[in-house]
Amino acid sequence: MKLWGGRFTKPTNQLVEEYTASIRFDKKLATYDVQGSLAHVRMLKKCGIVTDTEADMIVDGLQTVAAKIETGEAELNEAHEDIHMNVEKLLIDEIGSVGGKLHTGRSRNDQVALDMRLYLRDIVLELIQLLTAVQQSLYKQAESNMDTILPGYTHLQRAQPVLFAHHMLAYVFMFQRDIERLADSLKRINKMPLGAGALAGTTFPIDREYVAQELHFDSICENSLDAVSDRDFVVEFLSDASIIAMHLSRLCEEMVQWSSAEFNFIELDDAFCTGSSMMPQKKNPDVAELVRGKTGRVYGHLNGMLTMLKGLPLAYNKDMQEDKEGMFDTAETLRGALSLFAPMIETMAVKKVSMYEAVRQDFSNATDLADYLTGKGMAFRDSHEAVGNIVLYCIHHNKYLLDLSLDEFRSFSEVIEADIFEALSPEMVVNARQAPGGTAVQSVRKQLEKAADLLKENHAWYQRKSKQ
Ligand code: ARG
Repeated sequence: MKLWGGRFTKPTNQLVEEYTASIRFDKKLATYDVQGSLAHVRMLKKCGIVTDTEADMIVDGLQTVAAKIETGEAELNEAHEDIHMNVEKLLIDEIGSVGGKLHTGRSRNDQVALDMRLYLRDIVLELIQLLTAVQQSLYKQAESNMDTILPGYTHLQRAQPVLFAHHMLAYVFMFQRDIERLADSLKRINKMPLGAGALAGTTFPIDREYVAQELHFDSICENSLDAVSDRDFVVEFLSDASIIAMHLSRLCEEMVQWSSAEFNFIELDDAFCTGSSMMPQKKNPDVAELVRGKTGRVYGHLNGMLTMLKGLPLAYNKDMQEDKEGMFDTAETLRGALSLFAPMIETMAVKKVSMYEAVRQDFSNATDLADYLTGKGMAFRDSHEAVGNIVLYCIHHNKYLLDLSLDEFRSFSEVIEADIFEALSPEMVVNARQAPGGTAVQSVRKQLEKAADLLKENHAWYQRKSKQ
C-alpha cells in the first residue's frame, strides 16, 4: 500500500512506478533527509504537536533507520518512490503507526528543498577546501619558480616573456574568485524551507525558527510558495561549478600543450599519466584531457537545469525531480578533478632551461625595443614601425634581436646604443614590468604575499565554517 494510496482504487502501472521513482538517485540524500526529520520531530515535540513519548520513539526509530540504510540492511524500494517516503515507510515498519506522525505539518515539497540545501551546503564547503588545496599546489610551484622565465602568449603566438611564478599565480587568483563565489552562495543556500508545507504553509502551530537553529541555517525562507519552488540556489551552484570547470579546463589545456614535444615546458609525473596500448613510447596527459573533457557535462547540467525550470508555474511540479542528478554529477565531477589536480600540479616537473631557450628564440623582447626607442624620445608609433622593420630584417636574415650587431641596430636608428643588449635580455625584459600586477620579480613577490594571505584566510574560513 502506498503512503498516498487512500484516494486510489487501482495499483500504479508498473512502468509509471519505475518512471516516476527517484530513489535510484535521491538515496544520496538519505542522511540529510533523516537529519531534517530529526529536527522536524524535535520541533513538533517542543510545540506540543506530538507528545514527548511519541517524539522520542520517532527519534529513536529514525536513528535506527539511518543506521540500517547506512549498512545496507534496510531495503530502499522503488514502490516507495523517493528517499522521503522510503525513510517514512522504514520508520513505520520500525516503530509502528506512531511513525506516521512524523509527517505532521510537512510535505515532501518542503522536505526535498530542505534536503537539497543541506546537501549543497556540505558540497560547497568541501569544494572550497579542495580548491584551496589546488591553490596551495600552484602557490608552491610559483614559489619555487621565481626565476623561471617562459614566453607569454597572445593568440598562441609568443608575445612577451613572463615569470612562470606569475603564470601559476594567475590561476591562484582565478580559483580565489571561484572560492569567493561559492562562499557567497552559502548566503542563499543556507535558508530553511521547512514549514512551507506543500505550498501554502501549515495549519499547525510550528516553530520554523527552532528548526532553522537546530539545522544551523542562517534564517528561514520568507515565502512558502518561493520556498518549495526555488531551485535558483542549485542553478547558482551549477553556474559557479561551470566557471570552476572552465578555469580548470584552461589550465588543463596548458598542461597538455606544455607537456608536448613541441613546447617541452613541463613533464607531468608518471603517476599522473597513462600509456598507449599500441605505441610503447607514449606518455599521455590523460587526467588533464579528461578534466578538460568533463567541462562539457558540467555546462550541460547548468543548461539542463535552467531549461527544466524555465516556464514552470508556481509552486512544485514533478519536473523539479530532475534537479538532482545533474547536481550530484557536478559535485562528483568537480570533486574528482580537484582531488587529482592538487597532487598533479605539485609533482609536475618544470623545465626551466627549455622554457628559457624558447624565450631566447623569439621576438618577445620586441615591445621592449620599441619602449627603448620611445625612451630615447621617439613617438611610440614611430618606434613600433621601426621595430617592425627590424623584426622583418631579422626574419630575412634568420636572426633574433639579440643576434644583431650594434651596427645592424644603428642602421635602423642612430639612438640605439650598446646598452641595448642588456635592455633586451629576458631578465631585464621581465624585470622592467614593475608596476603592480606586472611580471617583474618584485611585483610577483607582492602577489605571492597576497596569495599567502588569501590561503591563510581560506583555511581559517573553512575551519570556522566546518565547525558550525
Ligand atoms: N521525489 C520528489 C522530488 O525529488 C520529492 C517531492 C515530491 N512531491 C510531490 N508532490 N510529488 O522532487
